[in-house]
Amino acid sequence: MTLRAVIAGTGSALPKRRVTNEELAETVDTSDEWIVERTGIRARHIAGEGETTATLGAEAARRALDAAGIEPTAIDLIVLATATPDQTFPASATKIQDMLGIRDCVAFDVAAVCSGFLYAISVAESMIRAGSARTALVIGAETFSRILDWEDRTTCVLFGDGAGAVVLRGEDTEDRGILSVALHADGRHNQLLYVDGGPSTTGTVGKLRMKGQEVFRHAVVNLAAVLGEAVAKAGLEMKAIDWVVPHQANRRILDATARKLGLSPEKVIVTVDEHANTSAASVPLALDTAVRDGRIKRGDLVVLEAMGGGFTWGAAALRF
Ligand code: COA
Repeated sequence: MTLRAVIAGTGSALPKRRVTNEELAETVDTSDEWIVERTGIRARHIAGEGETTATLGAEAARRALDAAGIEPTAIDLIVLATATPDQTFPASATKIQDMLGIRDCVAFDVAAVCSGFLYAISVAESMIRAGSARTALVIGAETFSRILDWEDRTTCVLFGDGAGAVVLRGEDTEDRGILSVALHADGRHNQLLYVDGGPSTTGTVGKLRMKGQEVFRHAVVNLAAVLGEAVAKAGLEMKAIDWVVPHQANRRILDATARKLGLSPEKVIVTVDEHANTSAASVPLALDTAVRDGRIKRGDLVVLEAMGGGFTWGAAALRF
């Protein structure tokens, strides 16, 4: 028997309010031209009153369950990737569990910032293969707008809020499912992308700080390497890959990584123009977008990849 974690359904959710670059330029010293040229971002969604990481995550999870045709009660594991939980504790995964009406399952958060969804997929996939879970909700949900310094134009224009989710189900199959995962972290780079607060240091939530150019340089090198690693680990060649679903941080990072790997740009799913960088939500949001618009189909070979604060980075190869 080959037990594989198969994606049975995807879903996503965005806050109601969509904010264009022009609208942002009314309050921040920036311009649509600068943001589009340097990042490819045209708009982002920003959470309003009543919209939180948990509410967005629950909405994305409901849509993934609907797509999979699975009742919430069948879920025995919820892993939420987030760096912006509703509260320091309890884990927002347990809030989502309650919102979905699930009375007993394993539920916890994973914090690996923008790579969080890859880390969460890896944990859920391992638990499924080990037999300690059967049907999992893996969610990436964030409200970065609440940890941005809106006076810092070098960071506040880059991020947005949102959520994405997948239902992962254990199946005895060789044809579909997650084929490989590669994860990395290098804590020497903590100070290049971080939040200047926390419960155990300042006792405050803090704001996001970033040395953009240095992050950019590391991103292209690390992402190209880990993508190649996941593909090789799955016993595949890069030319066999149908779709790459990258972390949506910056259009220039996506283009440079694809160039480095000799990947055709048509194979790369891009949503950064509409969503900006939604951290742990960005990969499942982009995946759900491409599944719903019919690009990613059952049987396609797909690679997910991301990099974030820490640094942490990772990739997963799967047959959808
Ligand atoms: N609007 C207008 N001008 C801006 C601006 C903004 N929002 N932000 C910065 N600038 C200015 C700078 O002040 C600087 O002006 P100066 O030359 O007069 O000093 C100029 O634009 C160039 O800034 P620079 O930082 O060199 O731009 P860049 O080409 O490196 O682009 C980023 C900046 C942040 C877009 C880019 O470094 C990046 O995308 N880095 C990766 C970030 C990332 O993806 N992080 C998340 C990873 S999970």
